[in-house]
Amino acid sequence: MDRDQPIGVFDSGVGGLSILRALRRALPREDFVYFSDAGHAPYGEKAEQFVSDRSLAIAVDLLEQHRIKALVVACNTATAAAVHLLRTRHTHLPVVGVEPALKPAAALTKTGHVAVLATRGTLSSAKFQLLRQSLSDQASFVTIPCDGLAAAIEGDDQDLIRRLCARYTREVCCFGTGPGEIDTLVLGCTHYPFAADIFSELLGPDIQLVETGEPVARQTRRMLEAQGLLNAGGRGEVRWQTTGSADALKAAAARWLSI
Ligand code: DGL
Repeated sequence: MDRDQPIGVFDSGVGGLSILRALRRALPREDFVYFSDAGHAPYGEKAEQFVSDRSLAIAVDLLEQHRIKALVVACNTATAAAVHLLRTRHTHLPVVGVEPALKPAAALTKTGHVAVLATRGTLSSAKFQLLRQSLSDQASFVTIPCDGLAAAIEGDDQDLIRRLCARYTREVCCFGTGPGEIDTLVLGCTHYPFAADIFSELLGPDIQLVETGEPVARQTRRMLEAQGLLNAGGRGEVRWQTTGSADALKAAAARWLSI
């Protein structure tokens, strides 16, 4: 691997831009290739096999077309389905995955009660069950599969986003800071940070929202450092690739990353 090569980042669509945003802040001298698989989105309600096949194909594409030096799987659903397969297939490629931020949430909650919003695929995965079990002595977790929410964010359908956020937060009993109440909400899908303002408005200022962008960026930096792959000379460029609409991806990047 060559330190001047870009880092590959992929998601089912625009959600991974919430991870790319944190990566660009933490690693301003790195170049990136962002792959949005919008032609096959959403992943969250599809079979695990489909998501792992797509993830493996995208990794090959990024390696062959862009000679990436590292891969960030900027999607919780794809990480749960395929991160182990990606590491087995590409033993020389550093791979960073994302998982719902249960650990940071367990450290933050004062009531000991946390709600986790994520896709059906993430919540039903063995990887997520193991994570949840490993923290069961630190906090209690209520999980809500949010069918349709990633797709609504992908399509930038503000009315639908608002209705779904309201519906799924209503399913959680009960938010608050009193004993037995849920004071921390994990946004366990990389699309959901783009609805953070709506969640905050619905839940009020006392409920803490937790996402994964910054921890993933720090982990990526540590991994590149450890392998001597940090770039000191990149210009923070991003190349874009998508199986969906290039215009929609550019518009989302302009809106959320100002690039
Ligand atoms: N952004 C993805 C995640 O973090 C997947 C959303 C979807 O395509 O359903 O899980």
